[in-house]
Amino acid sequence: MSPFDLSLLPRTACVSSDGGVAVGGVTLADLAERFGTPLYVYDEEELRARCREYRTAFPGGAAYAAKAFLCTAMARLVAEEGLGIDVATGGELHVVLHAGFPPERITFHGNNKSDDELRAALDARVGRIAVDSFDELARIEALASGAPAPALQVRVTPGVSAHTHEFIETGTEDSKFGFSLDRGDALEAARRIVEHPGVRFAGIHCHIGSQVFRVDSFERAVEKMVGLVRAIEDATGATVDEVNIGGGLGVRYLAGDDAPSIAGYGAAVHETFAKALADAGVRSRPVLTTEPGRSIAAPAGLTLYRVGTVKRIPGGRTYVAVDGGMSDNLRPVTYGARYEAFVPTRAGVERPLVATVAGKHCEQGDLLVRDAQLPVDIAVGDLLVTPVTGAYAHAMASNYNRVPRPAVVFVRDGDARLVVRRETYDDLTRLDI
Ligand code: LLP
Repeated sequence: MSPFDLSLLPRTACVSSDGGVAVGGVTLADLAERFGTPLYVYDEEELRARCREYRTAFPGGAAYAAKAFLCTAMARLVAEEGLGIDVATGGELHVVLHAGFPPERITFHGNNKSDDELRAALDARVGRIAVDSFDELARIEALASGAPAPALQVRVTPGVSAHTHEFIETGTEDSKFGFSLDRGDALEAARRIVEHPGVRFAGIHCHIGSQVFRVDSFERAVEKMVGLVRAIEDATGATVDEVNIGGGLGVRYLAGDDAPSIAGYGAAVHETFAKALADAGVRSRPVLTTEPGRSIAAPAGLTLYRVGTVKRIPGGRTYVAVDGGMSDNLRPVTYGARYEAFVPTRAGVERPLVATVAGKHCEQGDLLVRDAQLPVDIAVGDLLVTPVTGAYAHAMASNYNRVPRPAVVFVRDGDARLVVRRETYDDLTRLDI
């Protein structure tokens, strides 16, 4: 019923006297006019501020997880802010190298890296490769011979539940990722790396899952990882320089959500880390590092749509259909993810209408917001925003129904710059032979 909660928008958001919302000093109505809809809008200030919060909260280092949202401009922004970057495929590696990202600050991930991808990572001299399996380790050992010894991290499955959606929970024993800690595989992988002359042991890594609200889940992972540090020291005599606890910090999607702050999360895991190191009596002095994606990108982004039809089903729902849908945001369909919605030209008004925001795709399930609260006079031609769509929306976008993917715009200090152009119909046949 109440007006939209502006705290879900990037920090520069404000409402002007005519009720229109501006972000980065540009009104959303102007952006729609200039760049069309649907449109992904990012507040550059919010992205940069979040990178800085992570640098402060993790003095040992933080790397942005590129999978959350990646384009050349984003990779450059992350480089400028002094973070590292995590890539999970040859394609992500290609984009960040194209952006001129310093290779020594790149970590290469993936549970099934191909020989070509590994060769590309070795040729680029990426800072770290997170090894995910014994098969991969053997491949790296073979490929690395003769080259400067690559720095390898052991991707550990710590056996910790993250209390999140099962599709994005990765740290439990039954996972396709990493080496099991509890079964001893992680220790064995570390031993092999330490003993192999052609590679260098560069620490241990885990990632328990994504959209995690419970900081204690990260703390349990930290404790288990410190136990592994001790085991590695005892078994190999080597010291451990880095413990990376991956990404996963959850964000507020809905006004009623309560997510930990970056600073609070950083403080809690560092405290647990220091205590666990002391309790374990280890010789190593590892740094604690992290790899956030969503908590940097999601709150900085929003998606701007235009309403095309309003259908009131007698005795049923009201469907407000917009000019995008599951092709630009797959998360509602895939994870049952929930979002808010609001009309950015009259943000301060009451929203008594409970309606379903639908996409334009040929599927009944193509619903973006199931129970959106909207102004009662919502009408064809209105703009509509789903906030907090900066992560895993553009990143997972498709051309389903041959819908061209939207443009991406960065706004800052009253300027809007196009960083990814809108696809055209010609792009849709570009690869056809
Ligand atoms: N590091 C590793 C090794 C990861 O696998 C991931 C995410 C991250 C870092 C970053 O996690 P974040 O801070 O963004 O939670 N498509 C799903 C999320 C999949 C996350 C996959 N891995 C979604 O839309 O919810």
